[in-house]
Amino acid sequence: MMFEDLLQSSASFYLFGAIVGLLVLRLLYSSVSCQETRREPPGPKPLPLLGNLLQVDLKRLDSSLFDLYRKYGPVFTVYFGFKKVVVLAGYRTVKQALVNHAEEFGDREVTPIFYDFNKGHGILFSNGDSWKEMRRFALTTLRDFGMGKRISEGKIIEECHYLAEEFEQHQGKAFNNTQTINYAASNIVAALMFGTRFEYKDPELKALLERDHDTIRLTGSASILIYNMFPWLGPFLKNWRDLMKNVKDSKEDTRGMIADLKETLNPEMCRCFVDAFLTRKQNLEESGISSHYHDDNLLYSVANLFAAGTDTTGSTLQWCLLFMAKYPHIQDQVQEELSRVVGSRQVRVEDRKNLPYTDAVIHESQRLANIVPMSIPHKTSRDVTFQGYFIKEGTIVIPLLTSVLYDESEWESPYTFNPSHFLDKEGKFIKRDAFMPFSAGRRACLGESLARMELFLFFTSLLQRFRFTPPPGVTVEELDLRPVVGFTLTPSPHELCAVIRQ
Ligand code: HEM
Repeated sequence: MMFEDLLQSSASFYLFGAIVGLLVLRLLYSSVSCQETRREPPGPKPLPLLGNLLQVDLKRLDSSLFDLYRKYGPVFTVYFGFKKVVVLAGYRTVKQALVNHAEEFGDREVTPIFYDFNKGHGILFSNGDSWKEMRRFALTTLRDFGMGKRISEGKIIEECHYLAEEFEQHQGKAFNNTQTINYAASNIVAALMFGTRFEYKDPELKALLERDHDTIRLTGSASILIYNMFPWLGPFLKNWRDLMKNVKDSKEDTRGMIADLKETLNPEMCRCFVDAFLTRKQNLEESGISSHYHDDNLLYSVANLFAAGTDTTGSTLQWCLLFMAKYPHIQDQVQEELSRVVGSRQVRVEDRKNLPYTDAVIHESQRLANIVPMSIPHKTSRDVTFQGYFIKEGTIVIPLLTSVLYDESEWESPYTFNPSHFLDKEGKFIKRDAFMPFSAGRRACLGESLARMELFLFFTSLLQRFRFTPPPGVTVEELDLRPVVGFTLTPSPHELCAVIRQ
């Protein structure tokens, strides 16, 4: 009996040993195969706590990431403090991720500062069903109110006249055109959002735009990048405190404008985006359906469209004029083409196809100006294996637009202003795939068609009327093309003369 017991227990011992052995083998195998399939994107070795912060220049982060791309390839990892970020670089990789893997790479990373701005509502810094509904509503409503169509063409043309009048008042003397241009761009968004335009001298408009401009600059500052890594630092940082004040003031102003429209709302006669939203909200409430159409989504969607649609278009137009003053021989050719094809009548969108050189100059300005160099950070919506690398759900992703717009394998002379990038041998306009200033995929800029129409009409109307030159005593060589780095890249403060053409 004892022997039998012994035999039995030693049998179970061996059985137990075999099972443990098999499990260990399986674990070993799966960890090896995991390492094989779970190869993470390479990158510089991070330091404890700081990550790779000492290896990048926070004042010009996009350039630092561009340098790392040259070293580590098109998909690489950097650590900002504890935060792991995957950078996508080069046209092919960015397109493959944002377009071919649109779902996986299509969520927005809501950094602490973005959360402070919008609390997860609106369009820019939101995700999930609420984002989907707000984006869809904004696109269709803006289209209904004429985005990319004749109605907005009319509005923009009207604004071109006001803009030119303002420029004329300087009588050819040097002036800084930043404010005036931003007023013009914001009036186009205001027409769609509120159905009104502001006088350029309106103190409300002035305050709103100054705040938005400041917000964009501060958001890209080194201290806010640090805040995003260590949010508890917020109250100790002046930039964060200033930003919070800006956000609060802008919110109050926007609320006020919405309240004015609410008082005079007539669902039978929608005047603008706000009316359309309020009407939809009312209808859903009456049917007892709970939905994403609530006051916070209205407030933040309006604020997002205003902020995203003003400074971006404004600073691109400023870059266009600065390039014209810097390269007078290119300005000559634009003006020659405009005089030959359009003469002195008002330019219309349908003229674009007959103005290939001018169109190429606008595209080249957008390419070289590269105003949103790191796009707006994305986040993976699920685990994804991309170009052989495993990227976990929820990883922050930066589509490095600098590396697309300056991709050395796509552009003949990436670092020089060269309109020929967009012209064939016969001088016809050609589209280029790597022209991606509006990004791509499901989070791509929703104001692209409006922005393109504005840039074309504002630029051509101004060039028809004025010659842009540096101030007296300043040579073209002295005109500074280095940007002010914020969340966007804007031209350094400068003055130009707008001299009326004979
Ligand atoms: C030259 C002008 C403009 C440029 C270069 C530009 C560029 C961009 C870029 C790079 C993004 C980020 C895309 C991404 O996350 O991958 C973006 C997003 C966005 N843009 Fe623009 N934009 C411009 C004008 C406008 C205008 C005029 C509007 C609206 C009136 C607008 C509204 C938006 C909105 C709402 C988003 C967020 C989209 C989302 O998260 O789903 N933008 N834009």
